[in-house]
Amino acid sequence: MKIFMDTADVDEIVGMVELGIVYGVTTNPSLIAKSGRTQAEVIPEICKLVTGPVSAEVISTECAGMVREARQLAQIADNIVVKIPCIAEGLKAVRILSAEGIKTNVTLVFSLSQAILAANAGASYVSPFIGRLDDIGEDGVQLVANMVKIFKQYGLKTEIIAASIRNLDHVNQVMLAGAQIATIPTNVLEQMLLHPLTDKGLEKFLQDYKNSL
Ligand code: E4P
Repeated sequence: MKIFMDTADVDEIVGMVELGIVYGVTTNPSLIAKSGRTQAEVIPEICKLVTGPVSAEVISTECAGMVREARQLAQIADNIVVKIPCIAEGLKAVRILSAEGIKTNVTLVFSLSQAILAANAGASYVSPFIGRLDDIGEDGVQLVANMVKIFKQYGLKTEIIAASIRNLDHVNQVMLAGAQIATIPTNVLEQMLLHPLTDKGLEKFLQDYKNSL
Protein backbone atom coordinates (compact mmCIF):
# COMPACT_ATOMS: atom_id res chain seq x y z
CA MET A 1 0.00 0.00 0.00
CA LYS A 2 1.36 3.39 -0.97
CA ILE A 3 1.40 6.14 1.66
CA PHE A 4 0.15 9.61 0.81
CA MET A 5 0.04 12.53 3.25
CA ASP A 6 -3.30 14.22 3.77
CA THR A 7 -2.11 17.75 4.46
CA ALA A 8 -1.30 21.09 2.86
CA ASP A 9 1.39 21.90 5.42
CA VAL A 10 4.68 22.03 3.51
CA ASP A 11 6.85 21.74 6.66
CA GLU A 12 5.04 18.56 7.70
CA ILE A 13 5.59 17.10 4.23
CA VAL A 14 9.30 17.97 4.25
CA GLY A 15 9.71 16.14 7.58
CA MET A 16 8.10 12.94 6.33
CA VAL A 17 9.74 13.03 2.89
CA GLU A 18 13.09 12.93 4.71
CA LEU A 19 12.04 9.57 6.16
CA GLY A 20 11.46 8.27 2.63
CA ILE A 21 7.94 7.06 3.39
CA VAL A 22 5.73 9.47 1.47
CA TYR A 23 4.83 8.87 -2.15
CA GLY A 24 2.04 11.37 -2.78
CA VAL A 25 -0.07 14.08 -1.14
CA THR A 26 -3.76 14.93 -1.03
CA THR A 27 -5.12 18.37 -0.19
CA ASN A 28 -8.60 19.86 -0.05
CA PRO A 29 -9.93 23.41 0.47
CA SER A 30 -10.20 22.88 4.25
CA LEU A 31 -6.57 21.71 4.50
CA ILE A 32 -5.40 24.63 2.34
CA ALA A 33 -7.31 27.06 4.61
CA LYS A 34 -5.74 25.43 7.68
CA SER A 35 -2.25 25.97 6.20
CA GLY A 36 -2.84 29.73 6.21
CA ARG A 37 -1.62 29.98 2.63
CA THR A 38 -3.29 29.87 -0.79
CA GLN A 39 -3.57 26.87 -3.10
CA ALA A 40 -1.55 28.78 -5.72
CA GLU A 41 1.33 29.15 -3.23
CA VAL A 42 1.26 25.70 -1.69
CA ILE A 43 0.59 23.26 -4.53
CA PRO A 44 3.67 24.05 -6.69
CA GLU A 45 5.88 23.61 -3.60
CA ILE A 46 4.30 20.27 -2.72
CA CYS A 47 4.64 19.05 -6.31
CA LYS A 48 8.40 19.57 -6.07
CA LEU A 49 8.69 17.73 -2.76
CA VAL A 50 7.16 14.40 -3.82
CA THR A 51 7.53 12.36 -6.98
CA GLY A 52 4.07 10.80 -6.78
CA PRO A 53 0.60 12.30 -7.32
CA VAL A 54 -0.46 15.55 -5.64
CA SER A 55 -4.22 16.10 -5.46
CA ALA A 56 -5.48 19.68 -5.70
CA GLU A 57 -9.23 20.29 -5.53
CA VAL A 58 -11.46 22.42 -7.77
CA ILE A 59 -13.88 24.93 -6.26
CA SER A 60 -16.42 25.13 -9.11
CA THR A 61 -19.53 22.99 -8.88
CA GLU A 62 -20.46 23.02 -12.56
CA CYS A 63 -18.70 21.07 -15.28
CA ALA A 64 -17.32 23.95 -17.38
CA GLY A 65 -15.79 25.66 -14.34
CA MET A 66 -14.28 22.42 -13.05
CA VAL A 67 -12.74 21.67 -16.44
CA ARG A 68 -11.33 25.21 -16.63
CA GLU A 69 -9.80 24.98 -13.15
CA ALA A 70 -8.50 21.48 -13.82
CA ARG A 71 -6.71 22.54 -16.99
CA GLN A 72 -5.02 25.38 -15.05
CA LEU A 73 -4.04 23.10 -12.17
CA ALA A 74 -2.64 20.52 -14.60
CA GLN A 75 -0.20 23.16 -15.90
CA ILE A 76 1.49 23.38 -12.50
CA ALA A 77 3.37 20.08 -12.68
CA ASP A 78 3.32 16.61 -14.22
CA ASN A 79 2.31 15.01 -10.93
CA ILE A 80 -0.88 17.04 -10.42
CA VAL A 81 -4.10 15.10 -9.93
CA VAL A 82 -7.29 17.15 -9.99
CA LYS A 83 -9.74 16.42 -7.21
CA ILE A 84 -13.34 16.53 -8.36
CA PRO A 85 -16.38 16.13 -6.09
CA CYS A 86 -18.61 13.11 -6.67
CA ILE A 87 -21.61 14.97 -8.12
CA ALA A 88 -23.19 14.71 -11.60
CA GLU A 89 -21.35 17.80 -12.92
CA GLY A 90 -18.15 16.36 -11.49
CA LEU A 91 -18.49 13.08 -13.34
CA LYS A 92 -19.13 14.99 -16.58
CA ALA A 93 -15.89 16.87 -15.97
CA VAL A 94 -14.00 13.65 -15.18
CA ARG A 95 -15.04 12.20 -18.52
CA ILE A 96 -13.73 15.26 -20.40
CA LEU A 97 -10.51 15.48 -18.39
CA SER A 98 -9.82 11.78 -18.69
CA ALA A 99 -10.05 12.07 -22.52
CA GLU A 100 -7.49 14.91 -22.31
CA GLY A 101 -5.11 12.81 -20.23
CA ILE A 102 -5.60 14.91 -17.08
CA LYS A 103 -5.60 12.69 -14.00
CA THR A 104 -8.54 12.95 -11.60
CA ASN A 105 -9.32 11.93 -8.03
CA VAL A 106 -13.06 11.72 -7.39
CA THR A 107 -13.52 12.84 -3.81
CA LEU A 108 -16.31 12.74 -1.21
CA VAL A 109 -17.19 9.15 -2.11
CA PHE A 110 -19.42 7.51 0.49
CA SER A 111 -21.00 4.52 -1.30
CA LEU A 112 -20.20 1.64 -3.62
CA SER A 113 -22.57 3.04 -6.23
CA GLN A 114 -20.78 6.40 -6.27
CA ALA A 115 -17.45 4.57 -6.58
CA ILE A 116 -18.49 2.47 -9.59
CA LEU A 117 -19.88 5.55 -11.35
CA ALA A 118 -16.65 7.48 -10.77
CA ALA A 119 -14.59 4.57 -12.11
CA ASN A 120 -16.79 4.27 -15.18
CA ALA A 121 -16.51 8.01 -15.84
CA GLY A 122 -12.74 7.48 -16.12
CA ALA A 123 -11.44 8.59 -12.71
CA SER A 124 -7.78 7.79 -12.13
CA TYR A 125 -8.43 7.60 -8.37
CA VAL A 126 -11.46 7.50 -6.08
CA SER A 127 -11.40 8.57 -2.44
CA PRO A 128 -13.81 6.86 -0.04
CA PHE A 129 -14.00 8.88 3.21
CA ILE A 130 -13.93 6.28 5.92
CA GLY A 131 -13.77 8.45 9.06
CA ARG A 132 -16.77 10.52 8.02
CA LEU A 133 -18.78 7.31 7.42
CA ASP A 134 -17.81 6.03 10.86
CA ASP A 135 -18.94 9.39 12.28
CA ILE A 136 -22.52 8.70 11.13
CA GLY A 137 -22.50 5.13 12.42
CA GLU A 138 -21.63 3.43 9.12
CA ASP A 139 -18.60 1.24 8.39
CA GLY A 140 -16.03 3.12 6.31
CA VAL A 141 -13.52 0.28 6.21
CA GLN A 142 -16.21 -2.08 4.89
CA LEU A 143 -16.85 0.33 2.01
CA VAL A 144 -13.15 0.22 1.11
CA ALA A 145 -13.15 -3.59 1.30
CA ASN A 146 -16.22 -3.75 -0.97
CA MET A 147 -14.67 -1.33 -3.45
CA VAL A 148 -11.45 -3.38 -3.64
CA LYS A 149 -13.51 -6.50 -4.33
CA ILE A 150 -15.74 -4.92 -6.98
CA PHE A 151 -12.95 -3.07 -8.83
CA LYS A 152 -10.98 -6.33 -9.00
CA GLN A 153 -14.04 -8.29 -10.10
CA TYR A 154 -14.62 -5.96 -13.05
CA GLY A 155 -10.96 -5.30 -13.85
CA LEU A 156 -11.30 -1.54 -13.21
CA LYS A 157 -8.02 0.39 -13.33
CA THR A 158 -9.15 3.20 -11.00
CA GLU A 159 -7.04 3.19 -7.84
CA ILE A 160 -8.58 3.45 -4.39
CA ILE A 161 -7.26 6.12 -2.03
CA ALA A 162 -8.59 5.35 1.46
CA ALA A 163 -9.25 8.84 2.85
CA SER A 164 -10.56 10.50 6.00
CA ILE A 165 -8.31 8.28 8.08
CA ARG A 166 -8.46 9.10 11.77
CA ASN A 167 -6.41 6.43 13.56
CA LEU A 168 -3.98 3.52 13.33
CA ASP A 169 -6.75 0.96 13.19
CA HIS A 170 -8.11 2.63 10.04
CA VAL A 171 -4.65 2.34 8.43
CA ASN A 172 -4.31 -1.33 9.37
CA GLN A 173 -7.81 -2.20 8.23
CA VAL A 174 -7.60 -0.52 4.81
CA MET A 175 -4.22 -2.17 4.27
CA LEU A 176 -5.77 -5.57 5.03
CA ALA A 177 -8.71 -4.71 2.75
CA GLY A 178 -6.27 -4.17 -0.13
CA ALA A 179 -6.57 -0.41 -0.76
CA GLN A 180 -3.80 0.62 -3.17
CA ILE A 181 -3.24 3.89 -1.30
CA ALA A 182 -4.02 5.42 2.10
CA THR A 183 -3.85 9.17 2.54
CA ILE A 184 -2.90 9.76 6.13
CA PRO A 185 -2.83 12.86 8.37
CA THR A 186 0.54 13.67 9.91
CA ASN A 187 -0.41 12.77 13.50
CA VAL A 188 -1.49 9.26 12.46
CA LEU A 189 1.61 8.84 10.28
CA GLU A 190 3.78 9.69 13.30
CA GLN A 191 1.96 7.10 15.42
CA MET A 192 2.56 4.43 12.75
CA LEU A 193 6.27 4.47 13.48
CA LEU A 194 5.95 4.10 17.23
CA HIS A 195 5.82 1.01 19.41
CA PRO A 196 6.70 0.95 23.13
CA LEU A 197 8.58 -2.35 22.72
CA THR A 198 10.87 -0.73 20.12
CA ASP A 199 11.87 1.99 22.60
CA LYS A 200 12.20 -0.49 25.45
CA GLY A 201 14.21 -2.91 23.29
CA LEU A 202 16.56 -0.19 22.07
CA GLU A 203 17.13 1.07 25.60
CA LYS A 204 18.06 -2.45 26.73
CA PHE A 205 20.42 -3.02 23.76
CA LEU A 206 22.23 0.24 24.49
CA GLN A 207 22.46 -0.51 28.21
CA ASP A 208 23.83 -4.03 27.54
CA TYR A 209 26.35 -2.55 25.11
CA LYS A 210 27.55 -0.06 27.78
CA ASN A 211 27.73 -2.85 30.41
CA SER A 212 29.85 -4.98 28.09
CA LEU A 213 32.61 -2.33 27.81
C1 E4P B 1 -9.04 13.20 1.31
O1 E4P B 1 -8.56 13.35 0.22
C2 E4P B 1 -9.49 14.28 2.19
O2 E4P B 1 -8.62 15.36 2.04
C3 E4P B 1 -9.44 13.91 3.66
O3 E4P B 1 -9.00 12.60 3.84
C4 E4P B 1 -10.67 14.23 4.43
O4 E4P B 1 -10.47 13.84 5.77
P1 E4P B 1 -11.39 14.37 6.97
O5 E4P B 1 -12.69 13.66 6.90
O6 E4P B 1 -10.62 14.03 8.20
O7 E4P B 1 -11.55 15.85 6.76
